[in-house]
Amino acid sequence: MLSSYLSRTLRSPVKHSVPLRAFITSWAHVPQGPPDAILGITDAYRKDDHPKKMNLGVGAYRDDSGKPYVLNSVRKAEQLILQDKLDKEYLPITGLASFTKEAALLAYGENSEPLKEGRISVTQSISGTGALRIGGVFLSRFYPHKKKIFIPTPTWGNHAAVFKDSGLEIEQYRYYDKSTNGLDFNGLIEDIKKAPENSIFLLHACAHNPTGVDPRPPQWDQISEIIKERKHFAFFDMAYQGFASGDANRDSYAIRKFVSDGHRICLSQSFAKNMGLYAERVGTFSIISGSPKEKEAVDSQLKILIRPMYSNPPVNGARIASYVLSKPELKKEWLSEVRLMADRIITMRDKLKKHLVEDYGSKHNWNHITDQIGMFCYTGLKPEQVERLTNEFHVYLTKDGRISIAGISSHNVKYLANAIHEVTR
Ligand SMILES: Cc1ncc(COP(=O)(O)O)c(C=O)c1O
Repeated sequence: MLSSYLSRTLRSPVKHSVPLRAFITSWAHVPQGPPDAILGITDAYRKDDHPKKMNLGVGAYRDDSGKPYVLNSVRKAEQLILQDKLDKEYLPITGLASFTKEAALLAYGENSEPLKEGRISVTQSISGTGALRIGGVFLSRFYPHKKKIFIPTPTWGNHAAVFKDSGLEIEQYRYYDKSTNGLDFNGLIEDIKKAPENSIFLLHACAHNPTGVDPRPPQWDQISEIIKERKHFAFFDMAYQGFASGDANRDSYAIRKFVSDGHRICLSQSFAKNMGLYAERVGTFSIISGSPKEKEAVDSQLKILIRPMYSNPPVNGARIASYVLSKPELKKEWLSEVRLMADRIITMRDKLKKHLVEDYGSKHNWNHITDQIGMFCYTGLKPEQVERLTNEFHVYLTKDGRISIAGISSHNVKYLANAIHEVTR
């Protein structure tokens, strides 16, 4: 029936009220997918008209009046770019060289041996997510051992999907200890030891998302040693350089330690948070080779991998980052702005804990609020407490109890403390 209808319809010059396409292609078998957890929270928040509502779901920095913050150094770089009347030609496949050079220096440091020896391949990427994807695909094509990546429990919600879609198998390692709201260091070490030799381990370089729990430097030293002993490969994700401590050099401790210990790591780097360039999508993927010749071959394969994905990256955000990083005055201002953002987050942590304990007399242990670091705090709230926070107090957050400290301001921190106290008393 359908085929005779179609053949009549296709021959007929008459316009039909039912669109032809509805018959020719059918996506009836496509299952409805779940909505994105974080974007769903923002939707619900937008629909709420309560005057005290708070959105602590999304990982974007807000100033103390709750507004998105564009850094002065970025505004100045934009003005200079306008004045310079630059062209809009395509970038090379691996992006803007002046940007990737500065970005690598920022991550690896001026004294980095492999950087000085020309052994690091660096390519611009579509922010941190794009960098992870390039790295995932590169490993799935060329990693000479089992193509499986170990990711921490818990980790950023997109890691498993990115690596799975890149062709890697996923396994988890222990990271967070619910009983202390801190690092499960013994579990982490045991899992690294237990994994088959030459496994790939994804490590958050600093300001672990979602837990806000980072290993301390001596713990990183031990992790580096054991990863080396087991001949594992370390894939670092650095989405928050500068956000953890306020000092970009300090936050790259783990990366620099691993590199100086001789690991040939790879790294995903994002400028979304620390330069506030979220929608500009600026990042890099880099990987260390054993020699400049090996690096050349890796470079060639990165180009082959990127070309059919998006051909070449966008220029605007990379230009901004390149201006900020290469002009000493702008860089100085940027570093002080990163510190300012980090300090505001640290202050909000202190205030939240103080209100809970001193003003509301909460008997729970809230030390983890100030022990954890970076944009997020894993509060330890249970799903039913999270639900009450949202339904009764109009505070929006992910079900796992993670709050974005960057979304709290001095105007609403006490309101939040009261809400948390009420649902946990
Ligand atoms: C740990 C981690 N990695 C990577 C990213 C990727 O961010 P983007 O693609 O915006 O740079 C994020 C963003 O929240 C993150 O938290």
